Amino acid sequence: MAKLKDSHHLSILELYEKNPSPSALECLIYHDKTARMWKGRFSQATADLVQKYGESISYDWRLYPHDIAGSIAHARAQVKAGILTDDEFAQIESGLIEIKNDIADGNFEFSIELEDIHMNIEAELTKRIGAAGAKLHTARSRNDQVATDTRLYCRTAIDQLVSLISDLQLALLGQAETYADAVIPGYTHLQRGQPVTVGHHLLAYVEMLARDQQRLIDARKRVNISPLGSGALAGSTINLDREAIAQELGFDAVTTNSMDAISDRDYIAEILFTLALCGGHLSRLSEDLILWCSSEFGFASLSDAHTTGSSLMPQKKNPDVCELTRGKTGRLYGNLVAILTAIKGLPLTYNRDLQEDKEPLFDSIDTILMALEVNAEMISSMSINVETCKAASSDPLLLATDLADWLVKEGVPFRDAHELVGKAVAASYAENTPLDQIDLTKIDPAFKKEAAKIFDLTTALAARTNPGAPSIENVKEQIHRWKATIRS
Ligand code: ARG
Repeated sequence: MAKLKDSHHLSILELYEKNPSPSALECLIYHDKTARMWKGRFSQATADLVQKYGESISYDWRLYPHDIAGSIAHARAQVKAGILTDDEFAQIESGLIEIKNDIADGNFEFSIELEDIHMNIEAELTKRIGAAGAKLHTARSRNDQVATDTRLYCRTAIDQLVSLISDLQLALLGQAETYADAVIPGYTHLQRGQPVTVGHHLLAYVEMLARDQQRLIDARKRVNISPLGSGALAGSTINLDREAIAQELGFDAVTTNSMDAISDRDYIAEILFTLALCGGHLSRLSEDLILWCSSEFGFASLSDAHTTGSSLMPQKKNPDVCELTRGKTGRLYGNLVAILTAIKGLPLTYNRDLQEDKEPLFDSIDTILMALEVNAEMISSMSINVETCKAASSDPLLLATDLADWLVKEGVPFRDAHELVGKAVAASYAENTPLDQIDLTKIDPAFKKEAAKIFDLTTALAARTNPGAPSIENVKEQIHRWKATIRS
């Protein structure tokens, strides 16, 4: 009989995930063959393999604070309905709080025979307080219980995610401010296109993260509805005050169809989609930083604390955090596909397939929480090599579009201007002379001497004043706006 030794919440999961063999599970969870919740109908004990196949306690144990909060609110409503006495309620409440503390301290023995967190807690409560514990499951099913627990879990996770997204935005914003006027080439097709600034480039990610955050805040509205009272699928003949339960648990409302309430997992799919997309954004950021840190670009360097060396090549400083973030995006996408696939063919209402919702959910949330945290730290300590950025931006070809725009302002239709500048670029390559040094007037009289004045990066950036364009003024204004918005 092994107790959980470590009170750190991830420890059980980590151990089991590192070595998901039955023996690893066995040393974490004790076996009690007498513990069964449905003795009445059955004459045979559940086969060991079925128990191992069907248990969810090895991962759903982490729902325990929510399961206990739900049970206390449910019990309080039972008092109002005359099912429990005040004294019985007091026993249930203190019993559940004790169990909560014991789990948190690593002093709780989970049983695989009791399948999941709901039955583990309920059985232990009855073991500790006797008869009153056996009344707790009145007018409730594990089906509305698990839906309640996961909604409460999602709500807490969303709040954490929203806050960590802000932290990452602030880290990006800090660097955008420091390098608001550091010019770099902007790329399309990974070919140099037009000049932008490091500030403008980083602010693009602040925008993406803001939308991810908004999606989560919006999803929270649909998450924060109480399914408790929906029972197994058709409510109960014993009416508990669902509104009061919902209020106690901080829900905004109660669900309005019991069948939908216990079988719906779209709030999970929605969160997994948002996290997949957020992972996609972080992955693009990672890829940009990987390029920037390469010798070929040389635009940025990450701190020693946020990079790793090679066991063989002494010179290496590798952007592993970026690569891991890019790599972990695969599991975020996989988790979304897993939940969508799990729910797609299920007849109403509950089917055990729904137990497969939790591992993808926990995994995506754990993955993104950590990615946000480590990326915020890494970005705050990143430095930009302004001189290298400037050298890369001094290529006059970056201003070929500006030259065409100059012709347009002289009255040349854009298509003609595009062709003329194209010829100038071809000449520049043919003569092996930078674009700003070839005699443009030889290409076409439409180019006048003053055309050459466009080959100035400062003027070129300053001219990009339209909303959303990268003039330094604009970038500074955006930084100011974001600073006032984030966490306000
Ligand atoms: N562990 C189960 C799950 O996650 C709880 C609900 C079980 N309900 C049932 N009818 N077997 O889905």
